Amino acid sequence: MAISAHFDSFEDTASDTTDFLADVKSGLSAQSKSLPCKYFYDEVGSQLFDRVCYVEDYYPTRTETTIMEAYAADMAKAIGPGAKLIEYGSGASKKVRVLLDALIEPAAYVAVDISKEFLLQSAEMLAADYPALNHHALCVDFTKPFSLPEDVIASGHRAVGFFPGSTIGNFTRDDAKDFLSGCAKTLGEGGGLLIGVDLKKDKKVLNAAYNDSDGITEAFNLNLLERINRELAGTFDLGCFAHLAFYNEDEGRMEMHLESLTEQTVQVGQNSFQFRKGERIHTESSYKYTIEEFQALATSSGFSAVSVWTDDNLLFSVHFLEVS
Ligand code: AVI
Repeated sequence: MAISAHFDSFEDTASDTTDFLADVKSGLSAQSKSLPCKYFYDEVGSQLFDRVCYVEDYYPTRTETTIMEAYAADMAKAIGPGAKLIEYGSGASKKVRVLLDALIEPAAYVAVDISKEFLLQSAEMLAADYPALNHHALCVDFTKPFSLPEDVIASGHRAVGFFPGSTIGNFTRDDAKDFLSGCAKTLGEGGGLLIGVDLKKDKKVLNAAYNDSDGITEAFNLNLLERINRELAGTFDLGCFAHLAFYNEDEGRMEMHLESLTEQTVQVGQNSFQFRKGERIHTESSYKYTIEEFQALATSSGFSAVSVWTDDNLLFSVHFLEVS
């Protein structure tokens, strides 16, 4: 693959470490069917998610942007000059621009994402717009431990992670703790983490956000089955599955499922899977936190909670944590 002249490095290990077929087989053979939500993000899924972020009902993206725009100078002050910024799940690399514009002489930007095409396109546009920075793109499954490029580690500047969008909510509480502990190790002594976290709120607001009236979230959820059809010779009939999303109060999380509308058998390559009418595939959990719950999680994962910024309606929060 030709790598843009704008990049100082590009590394791709995602395709070695993910085994889509094995995960689909084990998820669909289980008593309660499920699929890992990381598989939403192929090229089509990443584009659909980008559209979800702009629908009226889905408040997290615009609320986080409002917070970032209002407090970028305070965030830059907390981060300090000369930082190397590592964005976990960089996606469209849009939110980071507000931060890069406010940061005092940032040294480097490392975009980390599992979706190669999206990563390259977005990181390349960013590199063209911020030519003074060292740019690195890392195509990895960032939910698993990974190493930063050698020259980024060697540079000696403060490493600051940026993990916006409340993607931390898509981890179980145990996995969130493991992930944050891994971040603390990767970022090292003196490191920081700026992280967006969706807050607990009225469940009507939550349910509307994951059942948007434009049907984009539905298309995003169903694309997982289309992806299986495309990449693993699946025979899912999309008209025979319905999008389902609701707030599970006991677990403090939004859940997305795909519900079989009929009794059916689906092939995935050589494998066949039976579905009863009404049987569900659990495709995503999106945990919501109070500020105190999240700070307690961060503290138990090797960070100290330094600052938190929110919107006036307390819909969303952005935390700055330091490796303790
Ligand atoms: C990426 N993640 C934080 C989104 C969320 O809200 O959990 C994914 C999403 N699922 C449905 N809509 C958006």
